[in-house]
Amino acid sequence: MKVCVVGSGGREHALATVLGRHHEVVVTPGNPGIPGSVDAPATAIEADLFVIGPEAPLVAGLSDELRAMGRPVFGPGADGARLEGSKAWMKDVLLAAGVPTARHGTFTEAEPAFAFLDSLDGLYVVKTDGLAAGKGVVVTESLAEARRAVTEYLSGAAFGDAGRTLVIEEGLTGPELSVLAVCDGRRAVALAPAQDFKRVGDGDAGPNTGGMGAYSPVPVATDDVVTMVMDRAVAPTLAALRARGIDYRGVLYAGLMLTPDGPKMLEYNVRFGDPETQVVLPRLTSDLGELLAAAAEGALGEPPTFDDGAAVTVVCAAEGYPRDVRTGDRIEGLDAAREIEGVSVFCAGVGAGPDGALVTAGGRVLAVTGQGPDLAAARERAYAAVGRISWPGMHHRNDIASGAVADAAGQHPGGRP
Ligand code: AMP
Ligand code: GLY
Repeated sequence: MKVCVVGSGGREHALATVLGRHHEVVVTPGNPGIPGSVDAPATAIEADLFVIGPEAPLVAGLSDELRAMGRPVFGPGADGARLEGSKAWMKDVLLAAGVPTARHGTFTEAEPAFAFLDSLDGLYVVKTDGLAAGKGVVVTESLAEARRAVTEYLSGAAFGDAGRTLVIEEGLTGPELSVLAVCDGRRAVALAPAQDFKRVGDGDAGPNTGGMGAYSPVPVATDDVVTMVMDRAVAPTLAALRARGIDYRGVLYAGLMLTPDGPKMLEYNVRFGDPETQVVLPRLTSDLGELLAAAAEGALGEPPTFDDGAAVTVVCAAEGYPRDVRTGDRIEGLDAAREIEGVSVFCAGVGAGPDGALVTAGGRVLAVTGQGPDLAAARERAYAAVGRISWPGMHHRNDIASGAVADAAGQHPGGRP
C-alpha cells in the first residue's frame, strides 16, 4: 500500500517510520530530516491511504476535501475536529456523553470570567477556546495571574481570535495520562498509553509547551484504567458524536488526569499526540497501515499489539522555546546519536542550511526516542543519545520518566515527574 502522511513534525516522522515497516510512504510537506518528504499538496498525491498528522488541516477540513475526491483518509472531518478546534464545544460534548471532567465556564467578557474565577478553589485554569499550539493554557495558584490571562486572552493580545472566547476550569491534580484511541466511526481500539511532559522545565517548572517528552508504558495506567477510559469516555463520546451526525474516523486522543476521584478528561485532541506518538508507535508489533486503513474504511478488526518493552522520548528544543525561538543553528551529532542501540531520532523543527546540513527551524527540533526492555533502559538510551546532539542554545528536560523509573525501583512515593 502507498500511504501519504500529512504534516512536518516529529509525530509525522514517527508515523512515516512505523508505517514504512510494511508500506511505501510519502510525507507532505515533511522536512529535510524526514525521508520521503515531497513538496506537493496532499490533494495532488495519489495514495491508497492518507494519514493527517496535525490538528490545523483537520480543523480546516482537509479530510473532507480528500474524501470528496474518493480518497481513504485516517483523520476526522472538520465536524469531528471541532472537538479540538473549540474547547467550549468539546466540553458540551463531554457533558452530553456523561464523561467526568473539570467544572468549567465559557466566557467572552471579563466581569463574569472574574466572578467565575472567584468561585474556584485555589488552582485556576484559563484556556483559549481555539487552537494555540498547546500554549494557550495557564494553570496557576495565583488569582492575579489567572485574571491577567483572562484580560490578555480576551483582548486578542495573546492568541488573537483563538482567545477571544475562553474556558475557565477548576484545577485538577494527579498524574496525567494520554490514551490514543483509533476510531472507525463506531468502534475504537486503544493504543498503548503514554505520559507526556507539558512544562518546559525540570520538575514541571515554567510555561506549558506542546510537550517536552513522553514515555510508554505508564505504570499507573493499568489495563483496568485503560478499559475504564475506553468504556466510560471514548465509547460514549463516539456515540455522542454519532448522535450529532458525525462519523469520526481517526485518533481520539484522550488527555486525562487520574484524580483522587477517578480519571477526569482534561481535553480531547483529534490526532496523534506529539511527542506521545514517538514512544507509542515504535512499540507497535502489528501493522500500523492495516490498522489505520481499516479505521478509514469504517471496519476496524483485530486490536493492535505492542512489545513488552518501553520507550522514552526527550524533546530537544531551540533557544527561547516556547516563547521567541532562535532558528538557523546547525544541528550536530545526529548520526552519532542514531548509532546507539534502540535509539531513533525523529526530526521536527528541522530545515536545510545553505550547505545542505540540517539546521534548527522551529521550537521543538528533535524527539530522541530510546527503546529498551524497561523504562530505565529506554531512558538511559534516550539520554545517552541526547548527550551526543548539540547546537547553540539547545535545551531539554533532564527528568523525563525519572519519576516512573524511581517508582518502579521503589525509590519514591509516586507522583510526577
Ligand atoms: P489542555 O490543552 O487542555 O490539555 O491543557 C494542557 C495542560 O494543562 C494539560 O496537559 C494539563 O497539564 C494542564 N491542565 C489542563 N486543564 C487542567 C485542569 N483542569 N487542571 C489542572 N491542569 C490542567
Ligand atoms: N503532547 C500533547 C499534544 O500532542 O497535544
